[in-house]
Amino acid sequence: MTRVAGKIAIITGAASGIGRGCARTLAREGATVVIADRDAEGGAKVAAELGAPHRFELLDVTDEAAWARVVEATVTAFGRLDILVNSAGIAVWGDVESLTLAQWRHQHAVNSDGTFLGCRAALGAMKKTGGGSIINLSSVAGLIGVPDAAAYCSSKGAVRLLTKSVALHAARAGYNVRCNSVHPSFIDTPMVSAVVNAAPDQAKTRAAFERAAPLRRLGEVDDVANLVLYLASDESKFVTGTELVVDGGLTAM
Ligand SMILES: NC(=O)c1ccc[n+]([C@@H]2O[C@H](COP(=O)([O-])OP(=O)(O)OC[C@H]3O[C@@H](n4cnc5c(N)ncnc54)[C@H](O)[C@@H]3O)[C@@H](O)[C@H]2O)c1
Repeated sequence: MTRVAGKIAIITGAASGIGRGCARTLAREGATVVIADRDAEGGAKVAAELGAPHRFELLDVTDEAAWARVVEATVTAFGRLDILVNSAGIAVWGDVESLTLAQWRHQHAVNSDGTFLGCRAALGAMKKTGGGSIINLSSVAGLIGVPDAAAYCSSKGAVRLLTKSVALHAARAGYNVRCNSVHPSFIDTPMVSAVVNAAPDQAKTRAAFERAAPLRRLGEVDDVANLVLYLASDESKFVTGTELVVDGGLTAM
């Protein structure tokens, strides 16, 4: 239970789903976790569940000033920042012909701009205290196309290549900061249940999600959190700029 012992982590989107799973896993393995989310109620609940020294910080990832505040509050309270998990995200559905420009921009503001702001803010802190690990939640939709998710695919493709650029910049600068992206397929979280619940035939829609992967099930939050734990820990100290898929074999087809 000490794979990230003593490390200080900020996890965005940690009020729900994958981010919450990462918060629980990293806390169990010895990290101090700052739960960062725009959902104050959900975030406070996770912080209360984990107990001190873990804490909640209100953060809208599209807000540049809020990022500065959260990173500063973390460094002031705990002396350093070792891990950033950029899990906050939204899924705006629609094919290229039906999306409005406002929907496109909103999708990118959260998933792409939010991840950029997070990487930049974290680098500023990590480079002063000897390094760290940044983990960006992309998606299989950042690797392959989905016709009904034009903006989502674009935003996650941006996260994939932003990750590589950050990794190369940090390596060249000698910061000892690693940056990697994680690419899940359908994971059983509120993001997926929202689509299932909105479908006319919920059982059929859920079954279609389950059938999408050769392993014939939805992924669990732990499937992703365990990969994030590896990337957050020193076990992955020679891993940077890469994309790790956790998709039950979906992209092997
Ligand atoms: N669930 C999946 O099937 C799946 C698959 C691939 C990738 N992902 C990615 O994993 C990440 C987490 O997804 P999830 O399934 O846990 O979703 P979720 O909806 O359960 O949780 C998302 C969290 O992000 C927070 N959030 C949204 N916008 C925010 C903002 N502007 N600022 C701060 N917080 C914000 C929400 O409040 C919520 O707590 C996302 O980036 C998502 O795109 C999810």
